[in-house]
Amino acid sequence: MKVLQVGAGGFGRTWLAALANEPSAEQVALVDQDPAALIDGIPGFVDLDAALRETSPDLAVVVVPPNVHREVAERCLAAGVPVLVEKPLAGTREDCEALIEASARADRQIAVSQNYRYRPVMETARRVLASGELGEIGQAQVDFRIHHDFRGSFREHMEQPLILDMAVHSFDLIRFVTGLEMAEVQAHTWNPPWSQFEGDASAVALFTMDSGARIAYNGSWHPRGQFTDWNCRWLIECTGGYLTLDRDVVKVYRGDDVHQPGIHRLARPRLAHVLAAEGDGAGARQQAGDGLQERALAGTVGTEQRHDLAGADREVDAVQHADLAVAGRQAADLEQRLDHRVRRRGRH
Ligand SMILES: NC(=O)c1ccc[n+]([C@@H]2O[C@H](COP(=O)([O-])OP(=O)(O)OC[C@H]3O[C@@H](n4cnc5c(N)ncnc54)[C@H](O)[C@@H]3O)[C@@H](O)[C@H]2O)c1
Repeated sequence: MKVLQVGAGGFGRTWLAALANEPSAEQVALVDQDPAALIDGIPGFVDLDAALRETSPDLAVVVVPPNVHREVAERCLAAGVPVLVEKPLAGTREDCEALIEASARADRQIAVSQNYRYRPVMETARRVLASGELGEIGQAQVDFRIHHDFRGSFREHMEQPLILDMAVHSFDLIRFVTGLEMAEVQAHTWNPPWSQFEGDASAVALFTMDSGARIAYNGSWHPRGQFTDWNCRWLIECTGGYLTLDRDVVKVYRGDDVHQPGIHRLARPRLAHVLAAEGDGAGARQQAGDGLQERALAGTVGTEQRHDLAGADREVDAVQHADLAVAGRQAADLEQRLDHRVRRRGRH
Protein backbone atom coordinates (compact mmCIF):
# COMPACT_ATOMS: atom_id res chain seq x y z
CA MET A 1 0.00 0.00 0.00
CA LYS A 2 1.44 3.39 -1.05
CA VAL A 3 1.34 5.77 1.92
CA LEU A 4 1.68 9.55 1.86
CA GLN A 5 2.29 11.22 5.22
CA VAL A 6 1.56 14.88 5.95
CA GLY A 7 3.37 16.29 9.00
CA ALA A 8 6.83 15.31 10.19
CA GLY A 9 6.94 17.06 13.56
CA GLY A 10 6.92 15.52 17.05
CA PHE A 11 4.37 12.75 16.48
CA GLY A 12 5.05 12.63 12.75
CA ARG A 13 8.42 11.09 13.65
CA THR A 14 6.63 8.32 15.55
CA TRP A 15 4.47 7.64 12.48
CA LEU A 16 7.53 7.58 10.19
CA ALA A 17 9.09 4.87 12.36
CA ALA A 18 5.84 2.89 12.61
CA LEU A 19 5.31 2.93 8.84
CA ALA A 20 8.95 1.98 8.21
CA ASN A 21 8.33 -1.13 10.33
CA GLU A 22 5.11 -2.07 8.53
CA PRO A 23 5.88 -4.50 5.68
CA SER A 24 2.62 -3.72 3.84
CA ALA A 25 3.36 0.03 3.73
CA GLU A 26 5.45 1.77 1.08
CA GLN A 27 6.35 5.33 2.14
CA VAL A 28 5.93 7.18 -1.17
CA ALA A 29 5.77 10.77 0.08
CA LEU A 30 6.45 12.92 3.12
CA VAL A 31 4.85 16.36 3.09
CA ASP A 32 5.61 19.19 5.49
CA GLN A 33 5.29 22.93 5.08
CA ASP A 34 8.66 23.19 6.82
CA PRO A 35 11.36 21.82 4.45
CA ALA A 36 13.68 21.30 7.45
CA ALA A 37 11.29 18.62 8.74
CA LEU A 38 11.71 16.43 5.63
CA ILE A 39 14.07 13.46 5.88
CA ASP A 40 16.35 11.50 3.57
CA GLY A 41 15.02 8.25 2.12
CA ILE A 42 11.41 9.34 1.48
CA PRO A 43 10.46 11.68 -1.41
CA GLY A 44 9.82 15.03 0.28
CA PHE A 45 7.31 17.75 -0.64
CA VAL A 46 6.21 21.09 0.73
CA ASP A 47 3.27 21.19 -1.69
CA LEU A 48 0.58 18.63 -0.79
CA ASP A 49 -1.23 18.81 -4.15
CA ALA A 50 2.00 18.10 -6.02
CA ALA A 51 2.68 15.11 -3.75
CA LEU A 52 -0.82 13.72 -4.34
CA ARG A 53 -0.50 14.18 -8.08
CA GLU A 54 2.98 12.74 -8.45
CA THR A 55 2.80 9.75 -6.11
CA SER A 56 -0.84 8.53 -6.45
CA PRO A 57 -1.00 7.19 -2.86
CA ASP A 58 -3.52 4.61 -1.59
CA LEU A 59 -3.67 6.22 1.85
CA ALA A 60 -2.86 9.60 3.44
CA VAL A 61 -1.75 9.72 7.08
CA VAL A 62 -2.35 13.22 8.46
CA VAL A 63 -0.18 14.24 11.45
CA VAL A 64 -0.47 18.05 11.50
CA PRO A 65 -1.89 20.30 14.27
CA PRO A 66 -5.68 19.98 14.77
CA ASN A 67 -6.55 23.41 13.37
CA VAL A 68 -5.28 22.34 9.91
CA HIS A 69 -6.69 18.78 9.89
CA ARG A 70 -9.71 19.90 7.84
CA GLU A 71 -7.76 21.77 5.17
CA VAL A 72 -5.22 18.96 4.68
CA ALA A 73 -7.67 16.04 4.87
CA GLU A 74 -10.17 17.72 2.51
CA ARG A 75 -7.47 18.06 -0.13
CA CYS A 76 -6.54 14.38 0.16
CA LEU A 77 -10.19 13.25 -0.03
CA ALA A 78 -10.85 15.52 -3.02
CA ALA A 79 -7.92 13.78 -4.76
CA GLY A 80 -9.67 10.43 -4.13
CA VAL A 81 -7.31 9.33 -1.32
CA PRO A 82 -8.67 7.79 1.92
CA VAL A 83 -7.38 9.45 5.09
CA LEU A 84 -6.19 8.29 8.49
CA VAL A 85 -6.06 11.47 10.56
CA GLU A 86 -4.54 11.90 13.99
CA LYS A 87 -6.93 12.79 16.79
CA PRO A 88 -8.92 14.95 17.20
CA LEU A 89 -10.82 14.57 13.92
CA ALA A 90 -10.61 18.37 13.51
CA GLY A 91 -10.25 21.55 15.55
CA THR A 92 -13.93 22.54 15.66
CA ARG A 93 -17.26 20.74 15.43
CA GLU A 94 -17.98 22.57 12.17
CA ASP A 95 -14.70 21.29 10.69
CA CYS A 96 -15.50 17.74 11.87
CA GLU A 97 -18.87 17.82 10.14
CA ALA A 98 -17.30 19.27 6.98
CA LEU A 99 -14.81 16.39 6.89
CA ILE A 100 -17.54 13.78 7.27
CA GLU A 101 -19.39 15.41 4.37
CA ALA A 102 -16.19 15.59 2.28
CA SER A 103 -15.64 11.87 2.90
CA ALA A 104 -19.18 11.04 1.73
CA ARG A 105 -18.83 13.32 -1.30
CA ALA A 106 -15.55 11.73 -2.37
CA ASP A 107 -16.76 8.24 -1.42
CA ARG A 108 -13.48 7.74 0.44
CA GLN A 109 -13.08 6.79 4.11
CA ILE A 110 -11.74 9.08 6.79
CA ALA A 111 -10.76 7.43 10.08
CA VAL A 112 -9.36 8.91 13.30
CA SER A 113 -6.30 7.33 14.86
CA GLN A 114 -7.07 6.39 18.48
CA ASN A 115 -3.93 4.46 19.33
CA TYR A 116 -4.78 4.07 23.05
CA ARG A 117 -7.42 1.49 22.11
CA TYR A 118 -4.62 -0.84 21.08
CA ARG A 119 -2.90 -0.83 24.47
CA PRO A 120 -3.11 -4.35 25.97
CA VAL A 121 -4.25 -3.05 29.36
CA MET A 122 -7.25 -1.35 27.74
CA GLU A 123 -8.17 -4.45 25.79
CA THR A 124 -7.95 -6.50 29.00
CA ALA A 125 -10.31 -4.15 30.87
CA ARG A 126 -12.70 -4.09 27.90
CA ARG A 127 -12.79 -7.89 27.74
CA VAL A 128 -13.47 -8.32 31.47
CA LEU A 129 -16.41 -5.90 31.31
CA ALA A 130 -17.74 -7.33 28.03
CA SER A 131 -17.69 -10.86 29.52
CA GLY A 132 -20.42 -9.74 31.93
CA GLU A 133 -18.70 -11.38 34.92
CA LEU A 134 -18.94 -8.15 36.92
CA GLY A 135 -22.55 -7.44 35.93
CA GLU A 136 -23.81 -4.00 35.03
CA ILE A 137 -21.67 -0.86 35.34
CA GLY A 138 -23.21 1.57 37.84
CA GLN A 139 -20.56 4.25 38.19
CA ALA A 140 -16.93 4.91 37.37
CA GLN A 141 -14.11 7.34 37.94
CA VAL A 142 -11.43 8.11 35.36
CA ASP A 143 -8.55 10.32 36.47
CA PHE A 144 -5.85 11.82 34.27
CA ARG A 145 -3.02 13.81 35.85
CA ILE A 146 0.12 14.33 33.81
CA HIS A 147 2.42 17.26 33.28
CA HIS A 148 4.38 17.28 30.07
CA ASP A 149 6.58 20.12 28.88
CA PHE A 150 4.81 21.47 25.80
CA ARG A 151 6.73 24.72 25.51
CA GLY A 152 6.81 25.88 21.87
CA SER A 153 4.01 23.50 20.84
CA PHE A 154 0.65 24.46 19.30
CA ARG A 155 -0.97 23.18 22.52
CA GLU A 156 0.22 26.22 24.46
CA HIS A 157 -2.19 28.44 22.52
CA MET A 158 -5.24 26.16 22.28
CA GLU A 159 -8.43 27.28 24.00
CA GLN A 160 -8.97 23.77 25.40
CA PRO A 161 -5.59 21.98 25.33
CA LEU A 162 -6.58 19.22 27.77
CA ILE A 163 -10.01 18.46 26.30
CA LEU A 164 -9.14 18.71 22.63
CA ASP A 165 -5.63 17.33 22.50
CA MET A 166 -5.63 14.76 25.31
CA ALA A 167 -9.05 14.05 26.85
CA VAL A 168 -10.30 12.96 23.41
CA HIS A 169 -8.22 9.82 24.04
CA SER A 170 -9.75 9.30 27.49
CA PHE A 171 -13.31 9.96 26.28
CA ASP A 172 -12.81 7.52 23.44
CA LEU A 173 -11.42 4.96 25.90
CA ILE A 174 -14.48 5.34 28.14
CA ARG A 175 -16.66 4.29 25.19
CA PHE A 176 -14.27 1.52 24.17
CA VAL A 177 -13.66 0.00 27.61
CA THR A 178 -17.24 0.17 28.90
CA GLY A 179 -19.01 -0.58 25.62
CA LEU A 180 -21.41 2.25 26.49
CA GLU A 181 -22.16 5.47 24.62
CA MET A 182 -22.39 8.91 26.18
CA ALA A 183 -25.96 10.22 26.35
CA GLU A 184 -25.34 13.44 28.27
CA VAL A 185 -22.44 15.45 29.68
CA GLN A 186 -21.99 18.18 32.25
CA ALA A 187 -18.50 19.67 32.28
CA HIS A 188 -16.42 22.47 33.66
CA THR A 189 -12.91 23.55 32.65
CA TRP A 190 -10.43 25.98 34.20
CA ASN A 191 -6.77 26.92 34.19
CA PRO A 192 -4.71 26.68 37.39
CA PRO A 193 -2.54 29.75 38.10
CA TRP A 194 0.77 27.95 37.39
CA SER A 195 -0.39 26.47 34.07
CA GLN A 196 1.98 26.64 31.10
CA PHE A 197 -1.06 26.73 28.78
CA GLU A 198 -3.02 29.81 27.71
CA GLY A 199 -6.23 27.77 27.61
CA ASP A 200 -7.76 25.51 30.24
CA ALA A 201 -5.46 22.75 31.51
CA SER A 202 -7.94 21.19 33.96
CA ALA A 203 -11.44 19.78 33.64
CA VAL A 204 -14.15 17.71 35.25
CA ALA A 205 -16.82 16.03 33.16
CA LEU A 206 -19.72 13.92 34.31
CA PHE A 207 -21.06 11.59 31.64
CA THR A 208 -24.44 9.92 31.80
CA MET A 209 -24.11 6.87 29.61
CA ASP A 210 -26.92 5.40 27.52
CA SER A 211 -27.37 2.66 30.18
CA GLY A 212 -27.84 5.31 32.88
CA ALA A 213 -24.37 4.66 34.39
CA ARG A 214 -22.50 7.77 35.55
CA ILE A 215 -18.83 8.22 34.69
CA ALA A 216 -16.81 11.04 36.23
CA TYR A 217 -13.70 12.21 34.40
CA ASN A 218 -11.25 14.38 36.32
CA GLY A 219 -8.27 15.60 34.32
CA SER A 220 -5.35 17.98 34.48
CA TRP A 221 -2.48 18.58 32.12
CA HIS A 222 -0.66 20.68 34.61
CA PRO A 223 -1.23 19.07 38.01
CA ARG A 224 1.08 19.70 40.95
CA GLY A 225 1.27 16.10 42.14
CA GLN A 226 -0.32 12.65 42.33
CA PHE A 227 0.40 11.94 38.69
CA THR A 228 -1.23 9.13 36.76
CA ASP A 229 0.18 7.57 33.63
CA TRP A 230 -1.10 8.29 30.11
CA ASN A 231 -3.78 5.58 30.34
CA CYS A 232 -5.57 7.32 33.30
CA ARG A 233 -6.41 5.73 36.64
CA TRP A 234 -9.75 3.89 36.53
CA LEU A 235 -12.28 2.60 39.03
CA ILE A 236 -15.32 0.93 37.45
CA GLU A 237 -18.00 -0.20 39.90
CA CYS A 238 -20.47 -2.86 38.84
CA THR A 239 -23.35 -4.81 40.34
CA GLY A 240 -21.08 -7.86 40.83
CA GLY A 241 -17.81 -6.22 41.91
CA TYR A 242 -15.38 -3.66 40.60
CA LEU A 243 -12.38 -3.23 38.34
CA THR A 244 -9.37 -0.97 38.75
CA LEU A 245 -6.84 -0.05 36.08
CA ASP A 246 -3.67 1.70 37.11
CA ARG A 247 -0.12 1.74 35.78
CA ASP A 248 -0.67 -1.04 33.25
CA VAL A 249 -2.36 -3.35 35.78
CA VAL A 250 -6.02 -4.38 35.75
CA LYS A 251 -7.41 -5.74 39.03
CA VAL A 252 -10.80 -7.39 39.25
CA TYR A 253 -12.72 -7.74 42.53
CA ARG A 254 -15.76 -10.02 42.45
CA GLY A 255 -18.69 -10.14 44.84
CA ASP A 256 -21.10 -7.79 46.60
CA ASP A 257 -19.77 -5.10 48.89
CA VAL A 258 -16.26 -6.38 48.37
CA HIS A 259 -13.67 -4.90 50.72
CA GLN A 260 -16.28 -2.80 52.50
CA PRO A 261 -14.54 -1.33 55.52
CA GLY A 262 -16.18 -2.50 58.75
CA ILE A 263 -18.09 0.06 60.78
CA HIS A 264 -15.72 -0.47 63.67
CA ARG A 265 -12.64 0.61 61.73
CA LEU A 266 -14.36 3.70 60.42
CA ALA A 267 -16.34 4.65 63.47
CA ARG A 268 -13.74 4.51 66.22
CA PRO A 269 -11.43 7.32 65.15
CA ARG A 270 -14.42 9.43 64.15
CA LEU A 271 -16.16 8.83 67.48
CA ALA A 272 -12.99 9.52 69.40
CA HIS A 273 -12.77 12.85 67.63
CA VAL A 274 -16.40 13.77 68.30
CA LEU A 275 -16.18 12.75 71.94
CA ALA A 276 -12.91 14.59 72.50
CA ALA A 277 -14.47 17.65 70.94
CA GLU A 278 -17.33 17.44 73.43
CA GLY A 279 -14.93 18.73 76.09
CA ASP A 280 -14.62 22.25 74.73
CA GLY A 281 -17.03 21.91 71.82
CA ALA A 282 -14.64 23.62 69.42
CA GLY A 283 -13.81 20.69 67.14
CA ALA A 284 -17.38 19.47 66.96
CA ARG A 285 -18.79 22.97 66.36
CA GLN A 286 -16.46 23.22 63.41
CA GLN A 287 -17.91 19.95 62.10
CA ALA A 288 -21.47 21.18 62.43
CA GLY A 289 -20.48 24.28 60.47
CA ASP A 290 -18.81 22.19 57.80
CA GLY A 291 -21.90 20.03 57.56
CA LEU A 292 -24.13 22.98 56.92
CA GLN A 293 -21.78 24.40 54.33
CA GLU A 294 -21.58 21.02 52.59
CA ARG A 295 -25.37 20.84 52.55
CA ALA A 296 -25.57 24.27 50.96
CA LEU A 297 -22.97 23.23 48.39
CA ALA A 298 -24.86 20.03 47.68
CA GLY A 299 -27.92 22.14 46.96
CA THR A 300 -25.92 24.35 44.63
CA VAL A 301 -24.62 21.39 42.64
CA GLY A 302 -27.97 19.61 42.52
CA THR A 303 -30.08 22.54 41.45
CA GLU A 304 -27.47 24.66 39.71
CA GLN A 305 -28.69 27.63 41.72
CA ARG A 306 -26.49 30.02 43.63
CA HIS A 307 -26.53 29.72 47.39
CA ASP A 308 -25.20 32.27 49.79
CA LEU A 309 -22.53 30.20 51.49
CA ALA A 310 -21.46 33.10 53.68
CA GLY A 311 -25.08 33.24 54.86
CA ALA A 312 -25.00 29.53 55.62
CA ASP A 313 -21.96 30.12 57.79
CA ARG A 314 -23.80 32.75 59.84
CA GLU A 315 -26.70 30.36 60.52
CA VAL A 316 -24.38 27.84 62.13
CA ASP A 317 -24.47 29.46 65.55
CA ALA A 318 -28.21 28.94 65.80
CA VAL A 319 -28.11 25.20 65.19
CA GLN A 320 -24.79 23.96 66.44
CA HIS A 321 -25.77 23.22 70.04
CA ALA A 322 -28.84 21.19 69.14
CA ASP A 323 -26.84 19.17 66.59
CA LEU A 324 -24.02 18.65 69.02
CA ALA A 325 -26.22 17.34 71.77
CA VAL A 326 -27.77 14.76 69.45
CA ALA A 327 -24.42 13.84 67.87
CA GLY A 328 -22.82 13.50 71.29
CA ARG A 329 -25.57 11.18 72.60
CA GLN A 330 -25.53 9.04 69.44
CA ALA A 331 -21.75 8.85 69.54
CA ALA A 332 -21.70 7.73 73.18
CA ASP A 333 -24.36 5.07 72.51
CA LEU A 334 -22.53 3.72 69.51
CA GLU A 335 -19.19 3.69 71.29
CA GLN A 336 -20.73 1.70 74.14
CA ARG A 337 -22.22 -0.84 71.73
CA LEU A 338 -18.94 -1.20 69.87
CA ASP A 339 -16.94 -1.70 73.06
CA HIS A 340 -19.41 -4.33 74.10
CA ARG A 341 -19.05 -6.12 70.78
CA VAL A 342 -15.24 -5.93 70.90
CA ARG A 343 -15.20 -7.34 74.44
CA ARG A 344 -17.48 -10.18 73.38
CA ARG A 345 -15.32 -10.97 70.36
CA GLY A 346 -12.23 -10.97 72.58
CA ARG A 347 -13.73 -13.75 74.67
CA HIS A 348 -13.93 -16.15 71.66
N1 LIG B 1 -2.17 9.79 19.26
C1 LIG B 1 -1.22 10.29 20.01
O1 LIG B 1 -0.80 9.66 20.99
C2 LIG B 1 -0.66 11.64 19.64
C3 LIG B 1 0.48 12.14 20.31
C4 LIG B 1 0.95 13.38 19.91
C5 LIG B 1 0.33 14.11 18.89
N2 LIG B 1 -0.77 13.59 18.28
C6 LIG B 1 -1.47 14.33 17.22
O2 LIG B 1 -0.62 14.45 16.08
C7 LIG B 1 -0.87 15.67 15.41
C8 LIG B 1 0.44 16.43 15.27
O3 LIG B 1 0.99 16.70 16.55
P1 LIG B 1 2.56 16.95 16.73
O4 LIG B 1 2.81 16.91 18.18
O5 LIG B 1 3.36 16.07 15.84
O6 LIG B 1 2.67 18.47 16.20
P2 LIG B 1 3.99 19.25 15.77
O7 LIG B 1 3.67 20.69 15.87
O8 LIG B 1 5.17 18.72 16.53
O9 LIG B 1 4.21 18.85 14.24
C9 LIG B 1 3.32 19.26 13.23
C10 LIG B 1 4.04 19.26 11.88
O10 LIG B 1 3.07 19.59 10.88
C11 LIG B 1 3.61 20.56 9.99
N3 LIG B 1 2.50 21.32 9.41
C12 LIG B 1 1.69 22.22 10.03
N4 LIG B 1 0.73 22.66 9.19
C13 LIG B 1 0.94 22.04 7.99
C14 LIG B 1 0.29 22.08 6.74
N5 LIG B 1 -0.80 22.86 6.53
N6 LIG B 1 0.78 21.32 5.75
C15 LIG B 1 1.86 20.52 5.93
N7 LIG B 1 2.53 20.45 7.11
C16 LIG B 1 2.07 21.18 8.14
C17 LIG B 1 4.55 21.38 10.86
O11 LIG B 1 5.53 22.03 10.08
C18 LIG B 1 5.14 20.31 11.78
O12 LIG B 1 6.31 19.75 11.24
C19 LIG B 1 -1.93 16.41 16.23
O13 LIG B 1 -3.20 16.17 15.70
C20 LIG B 1 -1.82 15.75 17.61
O14 LIG B 1 -3.03 15.80 18.33
C21 LIG B 1 -1.27 12.37 18.63
